[in-house]
Amino acid sequence: MPVKDPSSFANTSDIVTTHLHLNWNISFQERKIAGNVVLDLVALKDNVDKVVLDTSYLDIRAVYVNDAEAKFDIAERHAALGSALTIHLAQPVAKDTKLKVKVDYSTTDKCTAVQYLEPEQTLGKKHPYLFSQCQAIHARSFAPCQDTPGVKITYSADVTSPLRVLMSALHTGHDDAGNGLTTYHFQQKTTMPSYLIAIAAGNLVGKEIGPRSTVWCEPEMVDAAAWEFEDTEKFIATGEKLLTPYEWGRYDLLVLPPSFPYGGMENPCLTFVTPTLVNGDRSAVDVVAHEISHSWMGNLVTTANWEHFWLNEGWTVFTERKILRYLHGELERQFSSIIGWKALKESVKLFGPDSPATILKPDLSSGIDPDDYFSSIPYEKGFNLLYHIEKTVGGPDVFEPYMKSHVERFASKSITTEEWKAHLFEYMEKNHGQEVVDKLKTIDFDLWINGKGMPPVDPQFDTTLADQCYALAKRWDEARNSDDLSGFAPGDVEKFTATQKLVFLERLTDCEPFPHHLLAKMDELYKMTAIRNSDVRFRWQQLCVLASYKPIYPHVVAFITEQGRMKFVRPLYRLLYKAQDGAELARETFIKHKAFYHPIAASLIEKDIGLKQ
Ligand code: BES
Ligand code: ZN
Repeated sequence: MPVKDPSSFANTSDIVTTHLHLNWNISFQERKIAGNVVLDLVALKDNVDKVVLDTSYLDIRAVYVNDAEAKFDIAERHAALGSALTIHLAQPVAKDTKLKVKVDYSTTDKCTAVQYLEPEQTLGKKHPYLFSQCQAIHARSFAPCQDTPGVKITYSADVTSPLRVLMSALHTGHDDAGNGLTTYHFQQKTTMPSYLIAIAAGNLVGKEIGPRSTVWCEPEMVDAAAWEFEDTEKFIATGEKLLTPYEWGRYDLLVLPPSFPYGGMENPCLTFVTPTLVNGDRSAVDVVAHEISHSWMGNLVTTANWEHFWLNEGWTVFTERKILRYLHGELERQFSSIIGWKALKESVKLFGPDSPATILKPDLSSGIDPDDYFSSIPYEKGFNLLYHIEKTVGGPDVFEPYMKSHVERFASKSITTEEWKAHLFEYMEKNHGQEVVDKLKTIDFDLWINGKGMPPVDPQFDTTLADQCYALAKRWDEARNSDDLSGFAPGDVEKFTATQKLVFLERLTDCEPFPHHLLAKMDELYKMTAIRNSDVRFRWQQLCVLASYKPIYPHVVAFITEQGRMKFVRPLYRLLYKAQDGAELARETFIKHKAFYHPIAASLIEKDIGLKQ
């Protein structure tokens, strides 16, 4: 029986979904998806008299249970969790009874999962586009379902559209539907949680980049994208070596329009990525290594509910950095971990060290929107816990076989932190005996899992690859007290990789805000404002806005209105809002460009700049 999910209304302790089928018609003109969903359910106990599904802003027309029309009611909306749809069964059913529930419905203009783009908002400017983002609890805004990661389902879909459709499943064929429409068929045979259902439709073309991988995007970008992600197969193969054979058949990538709100999203068979990764330097492919790692951590072994989200992301970051270690060595893993630690510090600072949002396993029982708690904390506190365990039990030789056992033990299950920990102890006892168990017992798990603020242990990462960046940052920090800047030259950063520039800038953002003449000089010498790499561009703009350096403001406005990745736009909006003469500019910019952002991003930015509670 699934554990209670505070973010879902579904009565999953009574009855669970095994398969979900979507019959969808896409209307770009009406910005709507209309059709039905058919759920196969099985009762887990006797006397089940209702099925409660999650919905959010859906227009429900009729419900059928085993082909007979059924009574239903829709509860008043909960601000974060949406509206429970209760379907009354004509007679209570016994344990193991199978039911088919069909809901006729359409989405509305308030759908939070899907963004519709006008042709002008696409690269080609000729065709509309739509794409979804369901994690954490937005699937309920495009289909009534048991929207909890505690329930795993297979799914299929028949989607009729004027433009090519892709989904997080295998494409099994398509038929001409007349009137210029095509019906596309999909099947996902591996069980997965509802938040992994995904769709995109638009003028999409594919280019093969590996034996099981195609990169998809608008035709204007496909060559650049194929080049950027050439290492995809190497990452998958490394994941397989470390863990278990890749389960999902294909691993395709879809490069979305710039308003995609995340860096990447691990939709099965079809990872979604932001076009801000396509920098022409392969510097951001760690995001692809990350999403590939979710094929095991998250998609096979899934969090039971959003309180244990770190089991998805902390484990994935850990696996991503293992892949990095296999391909590029331990120093690269250390370098990447240093960047993660900085992100963790920033998240803790943003929420405040006493905030419940800084807890690895937070309490969501009061109906908190999981999007409001999204931060680097589950990623990096989670990574650091696993890293600390790895060190404590004897390093990679002991830990890597355990990782594999974790996947084998929990594949196709949804688990809690407590189940994870019980298996860890069991595994270590069975394979390494009391000595290693005693070592494990030296770890204060309660403090790691339930404590606030930074982790209880400082990881002391190897700074070899960061030292040059730190040394240069130190020189600039010291220069604030001197008139002589002749020691600085373009050559200082000429040999730096994009990531080293990033670490240099990150170090500077830890210092007091910089005097404007130093920022001007740095820009003149290193041509920072002109750099197109989006991570470096972000850090440079952040450094400047922190100092209320006004010459950067128009560049910030350009950056936050030409892409909508929350990692970049939310901190920049927040900083601009706080900076001298920035508040009005931040609000004006947002209001003018609101339609550009995905609904999830728009809603969070509104909160960031005080336009909404
Ligand atoms: N699954 C996440 C994105 C996500 C998490 C969306 C929670 C909605 C709710 C994805 O795998 C992710 O972590 N993306 C990161 C990539 C990074 C850590 C390499 C991102 O978008 O920045
Ligand atoms: Zn992730």
